[in-house]
Amino acid sequence: MPIGTDIEQAAALLRQGETVAIPTETVYGLAANAFNEAAVLKIFQAKQRPSFDPLIVHVHDRAQVELLVSRLPEGTDQLMERFWPGPLTFVLPKTDRVPDLVTSGLDTVAVRMPAHPVARTLLGMLDFPLAAPSANPFGYVSPTTAQHVADQLGGKIPYILDGGPCSVGVESTIVGWGPETEQWTLYRAGGTAKELIESVIGPLQITDRGPLPVSPGMLESHYAPRKPVITGNITPLLEAHAGKRCGVISFTKHHDAAYNEVLSPAGDINEAARHLFAALRRLDASDAAVILAEVFPIEGLGSAINDRLQRASAKR
Ligand code: TXA
Ligand code: MG
Repeated sequence: MPIGTDIEQAAALLRQGETVAIPTETVYGLAANAFNEAAVLKIFQAKQRPSFDPLIVHVHDRAQVELLVSRLPEGTDQLMERFWPGPLTFVLPKTDRVPDLVTSGLDTVAVRMPAHPVARTLLGMLDFPLAAPSANPFGYVSPTTAQHVADQLGGKIPYILDGGPCSVGVESTIVGWGPETEQWTLYRAGGTAKELIESVIGPLQITDRGPLPVSPGMLESHYAPRKPVITGNITPLLEAHAGKRCGVISFTKHHDAAYNEVLSPAGDINEAARHLFAALRRLDASDAAVILAEVFPIEGLGSAINDRLQRASAKR
């Protein structure tokens, strides 16, 4: 199994144009040199990701942002200052340096400076930024441990750099500057709470439509386990599914079901986000017939949790 903690080896593979799974504070990413189109192609192949789904480019410093982004709209500096390194991704006008494969031919590029110390050390050893989507087969739940990556992509990639379990546990928040609207738009709820972003730049426009015909993070069915997921109030849901083996995902309260993943008995929404994807994976691997998930409070990371559960429950 190609799991290890050797950052030198990860850097050497990336310099050779290989892919490496890397830890970030949100989820594990499958990384390659963002300036090397042949290397980036391997990401799409390993994930079986459609080429219309653009990647996030991970940077070490602001100098790398200059290589990738042609214009920093008003508010960008304040947001980067406040939330970087961290779980916030910016979709901004791109430079010609960014290969079309990375952006699916869009004239914008998604950039993020991750906070995970291993990711930061690795990026600091390289003289190029890293294109990296979440390290899961397209459409499935994102990995929050090195073992999650190995379970699904183990045979397909040369190395998985282990940085321990992810501390945030849901993907980054994505904001972009809409050239038509000249306004900041929320493309994906995630690890940086919307309220915090709005405290810096004012109200965000919200869209469930991306700049693409389909922007996959916005696909109705995404981030999905194989088992059916149903969201709502657990007690009536359990009644409706009496006689079946049910897997329940709840925030603080225990329910009498075959399996119950209580994400944070203490009621800490950040802890719940941290535990969400591992819980979904365990229930998906269990013999439960159906996964029933509570609706979470919408403050802070609760919006991201609800967003992922809703997409996991969408009919395929
Ligand atoms: O936390 C994260 O964001 C993780 C870690 C690895 O950094 N990455 C991640 O990547 O979640 P991925 O590829 O699974 O999701 C990135 C989302 C996709 O839904 C993609 O469509 C969107 O970002 N995206 C990327 N570039 C874009 C662009 N130029 N315009 C609009 N959406 C874009
Ligand atoms: Mg993903």
